[in-house]
Amino acid sequence: MKLNIKNSKISDFETNLLCVPVYEQKDNNDLSYLNTALDGLIDELINNKQISSKQGSFTNIYTLNKINAKQIITYGMGNKTDLDYEKIRKITGSLSRYINNMNVKKASIIIPGENNNKLKFNETADAVSLGFLIGSYKYDKYKTKKSPNSLQELTLLNTSGQNISHDFSDIINESESINLVRDLINEPPNYMHPGTLEEISTKVASKGPIEMSVLNVKEMEILGMEVILGVGKGSTHDPKMIILNYQGDKSDPDNNIAIIGKGITFDSGGLNLKPGNSMRTMKTDMSGSAVVLGVMNAVAHQKPKKNIMGILAIAENMPGGSAQRPGDVVKAMNGKTIEIDNTDAEGRLVLSDALSYAVDKGINKIIDIATLTGAISVALGNEYTGLFGNDQNFLDEFKKSAAETGEKFWELPVDQNYSSQYKNSIADIQNSGGRDAGSITGAMIIGEFAGDTSWIHLDIASTITSPKDKGYNPKGPTAISVRTILNLLKN
Ligand code: BES
Ligand code: MG
Ligand code: ZN
Repeated sequence: MKLNIKNSKISDFETNLLCVPVYEQKDNNDLSYLNTALDGLIDELINNKQISSKQGSFTNIYTLNKINAKQIITYGMGNKTDLDYEKIRKITGSLSRYINNMNVKKASIIIPGENNNKLKFNETADAVSLGFLIGSYKYDKYKTKKSPNSLQELTLLNTSGQNISHDFSDIINESESINLVRDLINEPPNYMHPGTLEEISTKVASKGPIEMSVLNVKEMEILGMEVILGVGKGSTHDPKMIILNYQGDKSDPDNNIAIIGKGITFDSGGLNLKPGNSMRTMKTDMSGSAVVLGVMNAVAHQKPKKNIMGILAIAENMPGGSAQRPGDVVKAMNGKTIEIDNTDAEGRLVLSDALSYAVDKGINKIIDIATLTGAISVALGNEYTGLFGNDQNFLDEFKKSAAETGEKFWELPVDQNYSSQYKNSIADIQNSGGRDAGSITGAMIIGEFAGDTSWIHLDIASTITSPKDKGYNPKGPTAISVRTILNLLKN
């Protein structure tokens, strides 16, 4: 979809379809103009409750050649004074699907927020664009009959009277990064193998100053990464660790951060085999790695002034004849030993070696992203993403970044008293802490491998997919956390 901007009064603007914001407040210049030009039709429709200012309410109106716009869609924006960018993204996301269902090729939209000093022009234009670009996401790669989106061009109309230009390249890149994450998560697990993630990583790295290295089984053996190797043993596809290095601040090597993603291309549970209905969605268990690739795809374009190491900890968790057993003991790269209590708690296992690697490389800050626990959906459902960490300043920085993007996270406690749940008599620790506080003990087992390094863990298990079309998220993968992490890297 092409995007462009136009500075014009509505009266002079020719279009087949114009989307016009409606607020609770009546002081709306654009709507007043339309009302007069359409002989009072707008007021009539408002009085009859056919047009509503309620957020997400859309109404089609034909103008019968009385004005230069052939058709209008009013879109409800709620209260003018408490509009924010996230609301704009959500509403334009829904609007993008509504318009595509009408089968139009070109449309235009009045940029919302007139006379609202809290909203800046460039950010508002970006919010509208992102809403459209990610709200209309579709995945039809494996459909023999495709039904692509009809909308090919969107014009953002600036009716404020000021002459404004806008560079769409960053928001297009951000949207492409988000939709890339969604594509990777949607990819069927018979196509999405560890090697597939390597191919995609190569493509992402080639888009900017990013160096890639791949640790295959041999290299991981040499580094002593027994834990990730153990997870991969039951599969015919070998595990891999992929490292994407971006050096945006060579003058200050300490200005660094690692973004580490769980990359289980399929999670059968291993010998602790999942029941069918739980296994059904487990192609999504590489979402953390997909998020890392999405972030790096944006980093390649936006080039923040920071040294960023993306790490993908990749394996397929399968119950083959050589699979890891409950009771096995494995040693991580940092020397810590783990007894396998449950082969289905494999995310923390692959991450233990990835965090050890990052710490060994002198990384000062770590964010890991994982579809770690089913328990997180019991705690937070699919509204809030679980947030954990060992450094309150870093957590506060992250929360501030999240608040700016509208993505919602909720901090859960990391308290050493919970660690007794995963103590073990054979090895240093075991890989599960039982049912109680399952998301916390899961997080803390990962945290054992961060040591003193500032660390944040995101449990995205229940927010990485949207159960229904909602705002800028169509049903399916959301790519949650990409925008927050990107915002954090840029600031
Ligand atoms: N991949 C799952 C977590 C998951 C569950 C993600 C549902 C998305 C939706 C993870 O590997 C897992 O199975 N975790 C276990 C841990 C337990 C054995 C300690 C869980 O949550 O049951
Ligand atoms: Mg898993
Ligand atoms: Zn599992």
